[in-house]
Amino acid sequence: MRKPLIAGNWKLHKTIPEALELVEALKQNLADITDVEVVVAPVFTALVPVAKVLEGSSIVLAAQNCYFENNGAFTGEVSPALLKDAGCSHVILGHSERRQLFGETDELINRKVKAVLAEGLTPIFCIGETLEERENDEMMDVLKRQVTVGLKGLSESQMLNVVVAYEPVWAIGTGKTATGEQAQVAHAFVRGLLAGLFGTPLAEQVRILYGGSVKPDNVDGLMAQMDIDGTLVGGASLKAGDFIRIARFEKN
Ligand code: 13P
Repeated sequence: MRKPLIAGNWKLHKTIPEALELVEALKQNLADITDVEVVVAPVFTALVPVAKVLEGSSIVLAAQNCYFENNGAFTGEVSPALLKDAGCSHVILGHSERRQLFGETDELINRKVKAVLAEGLTPIFCIGETLEERENDEMMDVLKRQVTVGLKGLSESQMLNVVVAYEPVWAIGTGKTATGEQAQVAHAFVRGLLAGLFGTPLAEQVRILYGGSVKPDNVDGLMAQMDIDGTLVGGASLKAGDFIRIARFEKN
């Protein structure tokens, strides 16, 4: 019922020629995939050239961030309308690197989610606890706050257009993946939070991705979990072979 979504977050990597080389390889090797939605998120400067290569393919484009205003005196920012103009259909919001390194709050992320939805784009809304929070038994409180504040004020029809990504901060770029079971516990908890806010039938339709050291050798175990509907991939999305294998995860 929930179509799997595999997204590559390229973070601050790849020049335009490097981005084009990667996306050409993905296009050639993933052209026949129809039962999985594939999304790539290059840096801003590569969005337009990558969009041109992706034209006519089933792979779609995401930005890694945006501002909540569509225009005005906001030096250095980019808006949902401009991202749509550049060919994006998705925008990653609230990534832990934005939260930790750039001070993004739940309230700010909430404004961004609404602005992205207002433009008809799909937010990939990221949440996740730090190692310290997990060890202090605060994981559930943190996820509850992030979900409740970050998605505050959304209508049911808006929520149907949101993709949630659970990315435990301790698993990002560390090579320490959550086990399938650990991730499943968090995903089921998040789905329960969504059910509390938007009702169970709606929560059952929302895709919840897992992110944090997803690799070709652990993707199948993660995707076998009931509440894991896809993956948000960092490091392994920079290598065509790895990302193709992840997008072609073994279904069971
Ligand atoms: P890694 O896959 O490199 O751990 O990064 C995960 C991530 O942050 C994706 O958004």
